[in-house]
Amino acid sequence: VSRFGYTVRGFGAMIADRVRTEAYEAALARTVGPTSVVLDVGTGTGYMALLACRLGARHVYAVEPNDAINLGRAAARASGMGDRITFIQGFSTRIELPERADVIVSDLRGVLPLAAPHLPSAIDLRSRLLAEGGVMIPLSDTIWVAPVEAEEQHRRITAPWTEHAAGLDLTASLRAALNDWEKTRFAPEQLLAQPQVLATLDYRTLTSSSVDATLSWTVERESSGHGLAVWFDARLLDGIGFSTAPHAPLTIYSQGYFPWLRPVALRPGDRVSARMTAHLVSNEYVWGWETRVEGRDGSMEHFKQSTMLARMLSPELLRLHAHDHRPVLADEGRVARLVLERMDGSVTVGEIATELQLRFPGRFAGWKEALSYVGELSEAYSS
Ligand SMILES: C[S@@+](CC[C@H](N)C(=O)[O-])C[C@H]1O[C@@H](n2cnc3c(N)ncnc32)[C@H](O)[C@@H]1O
Repeated sequence: VSRFGYTVRGFGAMIADRVRTEAYEAALARTVGPTSVVLDVGTGTGYMALLACRLGARHVYAVEPNDAINLGRAAARASGMGDRITFIQGFSTRIELPERADVIVSDLRGVLPLAAPHLPSAIDLRSRLLAEGGVMIPLSDTIWVAPVEAEEQHRRITAPWTEHAAGLDLTASLRAALNDWEKTRFAPEQLLAQPQVLATLDYRTLTSSSVDATLSWTVERESSGHGLAVWFDARLLDGIGFSTAPHAPLTIYSQGYFPWLRPVALRPGDRVSARMTAHLVSNEYVWGWETRVEGRDGSMEHFKQSTMLARMLSPELLRLHAHDHRPVLADEGRVARLVLERMDGSVTVGEIATELQLRFPGRFAGWKEALSYVGELSEAYSS
């Protein structure tokens, strides 16, 4: 298991997604030549870095915070490419390279391209690490949205708090659950209107990590509406890309489902509009979707939803983040401070663990627990 996100099997599943991987292979084959310096950002187990190297790149830099990078190193050695690929464990925003890259290849998306820290990373890569006239793969992603009939998906979200409520009032949990979005797979027949573009993220010109757009649709058939389906079309290079749409072959990304608070009976000609926002807050996307459904018979529905309402934040936690809060070090802070203060190169991790046990009796079950606590701080903050 890795410390940052994906497991080795997760990386394997991405490589096994032939729709995605073959498009990337074609994009690399078109751009990488013997003079190319390539930067593979988020290399994972090193797959794209090795491909670029095999295509003859002069040098490849492969960057990844996940420990899977060690598997990339092993693969490069096993393939006789060890001297042409430089592996750097860390985030691209914190690294320097001895030269700029002619080709920067990455897939830092999640289900959707709006996945932290994708967009800030792309903006930084373009301005700091891309050579003049260099190429970013992908070039752009276009995000699509359409209202959907999704009885099964909606019910999966609501059932624990309604059908299984056992007479209890679980409304608060129901509301929180309906203010989150999830990965799912839709059939094309579930779409109720022509998809509309939420945003085109052009990585050559992008300057903002936020999205804020209002879309509207005309319902095409009598149905029950349950929310919004969201997906994207990836343009890796001109003429090379893939789609994660419901009508396209299934990819590892699937689609996103943004539920409504309750099903809405829809008839042809009804108007649905939604303002969708996505803002990066503390390295996490906060999504908002405010929907209005205007029936031709004059009926009106209005839902205002946000992933903030799914977060279950307590007022106490919010108080600690407030700009005018004056923080006072608590017990846990004193434990951490002692460890950080001891990191001056004169004592070992084991010695710090021993001192911790003495100074904070009862905080750790034993020396081994204290040792792993110090080990984690050592990993994060020492060299
Ligand atoms: C979707 S995986 C792609 C893995 C691999 N490139 C592939 O295509 O099979 C994204 C990887 O990017 C890494 N990552 C995300 N942002 C990054 C950044 N700014 N710098 C370096 N790695 C990053 C994540 O840790 C994750 O392992």
